[in-house]
Amino acid sequence: MTTQTQPAADPDTLDLTDPQTFLDNDPHRMWQPYRDQYPVFWHPGRDELPGFWVLTRYQDVLDAYRDNRRYTSEQGNVLATLRLGEDSAARRMLAVTDGPRHRAVRNLMMKSFSPRVLAPVVANVQRRTDTLVAHAVERGELDFVTEVADRIPIHTIGDLMGIPAADREQVVDWNAQTLSRYSSQDSEQESVMARNELVLYISDLVAERRRNPGEDVLSTLAAATVDGKPLSDDEIVLQSYSLILGGDESSRATAAGAVRAFHDHPDQWRRLKNGEVTLESSAEEVVRWTTPAMHFGRHALVDVPLREHTVRAGEIITLWNSSANFDEDVFDDPYTFDLGRTPNKHVSFGHGPHFCLGAYLGRVHMHAMLEALRTQVAEIEVLGTPARLFSNFANGHTAMQVRITPEPTAS
Ligand code: HEM
Repeated sequence: MTTQTQPAADPDTLDLTDPQTFLDNDPHRMWQPYRDQYPVFWHPGRDELPGFWVLTRYQDVLDAYRDNRRYTSEQGNVLATLRLGEDSAARRMLAVTDGPRHRAVRNLMMKSFSPRVLAPVVANVQRRTDTLVAHAVERGELDFVTEVADRIPIHTIGDLMGIPAADREQVVDWNAQTLSRYSSQDSEQESVMARNELVLYISDLVAERRRNPGEDVLSTLAAATVDGKPLSDDEIVLQSYSLILGGDESSRATAAGAVRAFHDHPDQWRRLKNGEVTLESSAEEVVRWTTPAMHFGRHALVDVPLREHTVRAGEIITLWNSSANFDEDVFDDPYTFDLGRTPNKHVSFGHGPHFCLGAYLGRVHMHAMLEALRTQVAEIEVLGTPARLFSNFANGHTAMQVRITPEPTAS
């Protein structure tokens, strides 16, 4: 990542609601002066939508993630929904459910995410990643985002949910349009339409699984009861939708982010190649460095003192992972990409009761990608300037042209 001189902190002009802000600024360095001078500040409302508190320091972010007694996710957990004051999936989708129902549904879903149950899915991840990287190596020059990174996680989630292979590309497209617009030209309306298409598509799959149950997550959800009652079709649709949302964009963001980081830090690429660092510590550093979900947020249920401020009941707080992961009070040399970094307690997967359900799977993806690159690729070079996602939430790329030199010793 380039080192640029950033403007001084100015909470009155910083617009965190505008995705352009994240394209105009170095996503790492932008936060440093805020952590320093305004660790917690009030971001004014814009476009007739309310303002919100911004938390930039690691410890404040961690404490807020932990606290589902004084903060709730049920009125949204990302700025897009938080500012509207509601999430249409509240209490029907895990990430925007709290209290006993959250615990019950989470426990149920966790069964499908244990390493034991996931073993066959994991084997497929490594096989597919190896094959995709092998094809990329053969081609030599290609768009790493669309030809490699985009193609991995959706197949994993497809396996988990039993989505037919022929439909998976379409699901990726709907998902990308739903989460973050590709560019400022795409409209909000297209994003809403994509979400509707995705929900309708999953509804059909659920209906089919009720008739012919298999071993996929969808069938598990369709057969489950919570408090003695089966989950409604609607709820199963939304829970599945949340797996696609959670699993797809973030995992491919880390794959492309890794390649870009290796291009920018050839010394770290060499350490990976030479076996000087483990896949585990390397994967954690890539996940910290890319921070695929830049923020999450909550609504305060009661007044909460926060440093010299008071968050009033009903107000929004936003937790900036992209700042917390570079907090110099917690990470030594935070702007150094160090594959051997230990400890590395980043918050890229969140923390506390809503800690990412798919963290194990996200790590599996990353390990598979690093292993495939390490063994098959001698050098990987990013050509030109990669195109970044237009989003104030997802930190990723839409295009990244690369040139790959094969590893001569790879079979
Ligand atoms: C929750 C990040 C991969 C499914 C979360 C949260 C974060 C996160 C930060 C917390 C949200 C909050 O506190 O409001 C990531 C990253 C990933 C990743 C960085 C990959 C690098 C996955 C995968 C899946 C998944 C592969 C599923 C297949 C979920 C679900 C939740 C969640 C269902 C909600 C958990 C709850 O509310 O109890 N993720 N995620 N994620 N993630 Fe992930």
